[in-house]
Amino acid sequence: MPETILVEREGRVAILTINRPDKLNALNQQVRDEMLEILAGIEHDDSVGVVVITGAGEKSFIAGADIGEFAGRTPFDQRHAMRSPRVFDIMASFPKPVIAMINGFCLGGGCELAMSCDIRIASEKARFGQPEINLGIIPGGGGTQRLPRLVGTGHAMRLILTGDMIQAAEAKEIGLVEIVVPAEELRAKTLELANKIASKSPLTLKIAKEALRASERLPIEDGITYERDLFCLCFSSADKEEGVKAFLEKRPAEWKGR
Ligand code: COA
Repeated sequence: MPETILVEREGRVAILTINRPDKLNALNQQVRDEMLEILAGIEHDDSVGVVVITGAGEKSFIAGADIGEFAGRTPFDQRHAMRSPRVFDIMASFPKPVIAMINGFCLGGGCELAMSCDIRIASEKARFGQPEINLGIIPGGGGTQRLPRLVGTGHAMRLILTGDMIQAAEAKEIGLVEIVVPAEELRAKTLELANKIASKSPLTLKIAKEALRASERLPIEDGITYERDLFCLCFSSADKEEGVKAFLEKRPAEWKGR
């Protein structure tokens, strides 16, 4: 049983809550290991369509890596702690959609974890930042790569070089989060979004995510070719037959996931 993460189910949605509120849900080795273990189980659980990640308590989503673990560490210790598979990469390539439900401080590794998710929905009270510069380090969970892809190099430079925090409204304005809602509506709005996505064909969701993730690494011509191949692959699925047939018969589709 995981000790640092609560796992809940709401229909086809799995909600994973990092549960270290006294440490503002900082990511230590145990959280990262348990997250990988839980995700490995969910990957093959057909009853889960969408994963939601959040933090326990009112104050914080994740306030970054656990700074206590950095003290006295050698480069070799740190390299070992950062060995693959890394939770950031597993989330980005996870075959089911992952939504970050950002309830408060979203800093450092927390912001990097949110950026590894597919969609970010935040409370108006959330605050975002990459404060590593203040510790004499740089982001190490993909922040220097994923942040500029989301917000552009200029805003990424500003956030990473100053270490400043920004409010949820500004995070939305620059593209770091997609949706901002009042704190009291965060869970309901997140579940509404998650349930809507979870009602689609799991197979088609997986293929759509794969195509979208490819856009982060492929030149446009290769990406368009890859999309065409994945589009044609959809034509081998029972769900494509069912989706088209249901539309023509004016009824809701019944997905098989194959
Ligand atoms: N790692 C380890 N512990 C952390 C933590 C982190 N990233 N962030 C917060 N905590 C701990 C604090 O040490 C404190 O623990 P204590 O009560 O045992 O002393 C507890 O969480 C509450 O934090 P506190 O600093 O008292 O809350 P605050 O409201 O005054 O400030 C923050 C909130 C987020 C501004 C502040 O905690 C902070 O700057 N955290 C570090 C953020 C950071 O640099 N993240 C990147 C890490 S690479």
